Amino acid sequence: MSLAVVQRRAELGVKLALAAVFLVTALAFALLIWRGHEDTTQNEVAEQPIPFSHKHHVGDVGLDCRYCHAQVEEAASPGFPSTQVCLNCHSQLFAGQPMFEPLRESARTGVPIAWNRVHRLPDFVYFNHSIHVAKGVACIECHGRVDEMPLMRRVSSLKMDWCVQCHRNPLPHVRNPADVFSMRPLNESDAATVRMISKLQSEQRLTDCSTCHR
Ligand code: HEC
Ligand code: HEC
Ligand code: HEC
Ligand code: HEC
Ligand code: HEC
Repeated sequence: MSLAVVQRRAELGVKLALAAVFLVTALAFALLIWRGHEDTTQNEVAEQPIPFSHKHHVGDVGLDCRYCHAQVEEAASPGFPSTQVCLNCHSQLFAGQPMFEPLRESARTGVPIAWNRVHRLPDFVYFNHSIHVAKGVACIECHGRVDEMPLMRRVSSLKMDWCVQCHRNPLPHVRNPADVFSMRPLNESDAATVRMISKLQSEQRLTDCSTCHR
C-alpha cells in the first residue's frame, strides 16, 4: 500500500467517525427536545374555543361528571358534551356574550365545538374508562382535582410507568364504585371499598403486556 492510499483511508475513517458522532448528537438532541416537550405539556392548561371552567361548573355549580361525560360508565371513552348540553343553561345565561360565539355557531351549523384534547394516549395503547370506573378507580385518581381547575390540565404523565405502577398494586387506589365521581379523598375504611378489593384481578394479569397492548 502506498502512503497516499493509507492517508486517504485514514481521512475517510475520521470523516465516518465524525459523521457518526454528529448523528448520535443529533439524535440525543431530538430526544431531549421531545422529552422536554412532553414534560411541559403535563400540568399546562390547554387553550379552548370557549374558556370552559370545571372549577365553576363542578366546584361551584356542583354538576356531576356524568351530566357532561355521559358515556363514562359504559364506554371506553367518556366523550365531550354536545352543544345542546351547554344550551340547557346557556341559551339564557350569558347567551349574548362574545365568548359564547363558538357555542352559537355550533348550534347554527350543527358542527360540534372542537375542544382541544388534554389527554391523549398513543394508538398502540388500549385504555378503557368503563372498566376502571366499574372497579372503583375514581376520576380524581387519574385526573386530579378538576373541581379546582379554571382551565383543564393534565396532572398525570400517562407514561407506561404510571399505568404499571398502579396495576402492580391497585388496592390502595380503589374505592366504592358509587363514589368514583366524588372529589373527596379515598376513605380506606369504607366497607364497600374492602368488598371491591377482594374482587380485583391478579397483579400478574394486570401487568401482562397484552393487557394494554392488544
Ligand atoms: C358542564 C359540563 C361538564 C361537567 C359537569 C364536567 N365536564 Fe369535564 N369537560 C367538559 C368540557 C366542555 C370539556 C372540554 C374542554 C376542557 O378540556 O375543559 C371537558 C374536559 C374534561 C377533561 C379533559 C379531556 C381531554 O381533553 O383530555 C377531563 C379529564 C374531564 N373533563 C373530567 C371531568 C370530571 C372528572 C368531571 C366531574 C368531576 C367533569 N369533567 C365534569 C364539560 C364538563
Ligand atoms: C346546569 C347549568 C349549566 C350548564 C349545563 C353549563 N353551564 Fe356554563 N355556567 C353555568 C353557571 C351557573 C355559570 C356561572 C358560574 C359562576 O360564575 O360561578 C356558568 C358560566 C359559564 C361560563 C362563564 C365563565 C365562567 O366559567 O364563569 C362559560 C364560558 C360557560 N359557563 C361555558 C359553558 C359550556 C361551554 C357549557 C357546555 C359544555 C356549559 N357552560 C354548561 C351553568 C351551566
Ligand atoms: C385509570 C385512569 C383514569 C381514570 C380513573 C379516569 N380517566 Fe379519564 N382519561 C384517562 C386517560 C388515560 C385518558 C386518555 C385516553 C385516550 O387518549 O384514549 C382519559 C381521557 C378522558 C377524557 C377525554 C375524552 C375522551 O373521550 O377520551 C375525559 C372527558 C375523561 N377522561 C373523563 C373522565 C371522567 C369523568 C372520569 C371519572 C368517571 C375519568 N375520566 C376517569 C385516564 C383515566
Ligand atoms: C390508579 C390505578 C390505575 C391506573 C393509574 C391505571 N389503571 Fe388500569 N386498571 C386499574 C384497575 C383497578 C383495574 C381493574 C382490575 C380488575 O378488573 O380487577 C384496571 C384495569 C385495566 C384494564 C382492563 C384489564 C382487563 O383485561 O380486564 C386495562 C386495559 C387497563 N387497566 C389499562 C390501563 C392503562 C393503559 C393505564 C394507563 C394509561 C391504566 N390502566 C392506568 C387501575 C389503574
Ligand atoms: C398497564 C398498561 C401497560 C402495560 C401492562 C404495558 N404497557 Fe407498554 N405502554 C403503555 C403506555 C400507556 C404506553 C405509552 C406511553 C409511553 O410511551 O410511556 C406504552 C408504551 C410502550 C412502548 C413504546 C416505547 C416507549 O417507551 O414509548 C413499548 C415498546 C411498550 N410499551 C412495551 C411494553 C411491554 C413489552 C410490556 C410488557 C412487559 C408493556 N409494554 C406493558 C402501557 C402499558
